[in-house]
Amino acid sequence: MFRKVWFATAGTLVLLGLISGAVFAQTTGDATRGQQIWQQAGCKNCHGANGEGAFAGPRAGDGKTVEEWIKQVRTPRANMPSFSAAQISDQAIADMHAYLQTLAAPASFAPKQFSLPADAHPGLTLMAQKRCVACHGDGAQFVQLRFVSQGRSTVTTDAVIKQLRTPAEFMPMFSTTQVSDEQAGQIADYLNSLTTATPATLPKSGGEAAVSGWSIGMLLIGLAMLLIGAVTTVRRKA
Ligand code: HEC
Ligand code: HEC
Repeated sequence: MFRKVWFATAGTLVLLGLISGAVFAQTTGDATRGQQIWQQAGCKNCHGANGEGAFAGPRAGDGKTVEEWIKQVRTPRANMPSFSAAQISDQAIADMHAYLQTLAAPASFAPKQFSLPADAHPGLTLMAQKRCVACHGDGAQFVQLRFVSQGRSTVTTDAVIKQLRTPAEFMPMFSTTQVSDEQAGQIADYLNSLTTATPATLPKSGGEAAVSGWSIGMLLIGLAMLLIGAVTTVRRKA
């Protein structure tokens, strides 16, 4: 009798572990992890610290599916840059999605405006329009950190184009329809005109999200129970 219960429990745990593991590995996000990733990833610079909206619309409680989120991040509509799977995995997107859906959508939203000086350089105007300012501000600190203090005295058009199309590190990708090569040249002109500033830190994309610890836990306990059950059964028969 005891052994039947033991095997039934073990079998159930293994099954639950496998099923929940498979579900987690697919599209179910972990909201707790999602909260951590959201705080590190670049999404919040445009969509708001709590998904309430900033330079782009709100994402809190947006009612969209995980698949819609993944599609937007990989092949964005409108002027959102794209993130590669190496920068933000599908699982990380699913986790952020799960977290943002636990938050209430804001009652109203007005896009954050970058305050441009009256005589703004056309390159700075472009940086505001294309939302580079969400991560780089007016560019002064960024140019100091990324170019001047690294001994790169000029910001070339080639450097900007290279970064937009094949971004190093954690910056998302902007296509030629989003920012043309000519516009990249104007931005380079502007960045080049900047000289002094103090260092700043930039956001990083989210880390990897693994299969839930619970799934693995259930699976391991279930397998251990099966093993113990099998060993004791063999001993009794012998
Ligand atoms: C440079 C700014 C920027 C960044 C960074 C950014 N987005 Fe967006 N996002 C936009 C814009 C612009 C839109 C479209 C218009 C709007 O919602 O304001 C958009 C739209 C979306 C939508 C709605 C798509 C639809 O079908 O309507 C989702 C979902 C989304 N973003 C998710 C993300 C996630 C997840 C990240 C981080 C991996 C991210 N965004 C980073 C600018 C950005
Ligand atoms: C979601 C945040 C984000 C947005 C939006 C963004 N960047 Fe970046 N960008 C980064 C990060 C992160 C880096 C890496 C900087 C570092 O590690 O110091 C970077 C680096 C750069 C560099 C330096 C490349 C080099 O050679 O060192 C340039 C140039 C640049 N960005 C231009 C732009 C332009 C132009 C736009 C708008 C069209 C833009 N970025 C929008 C996050 C962003």
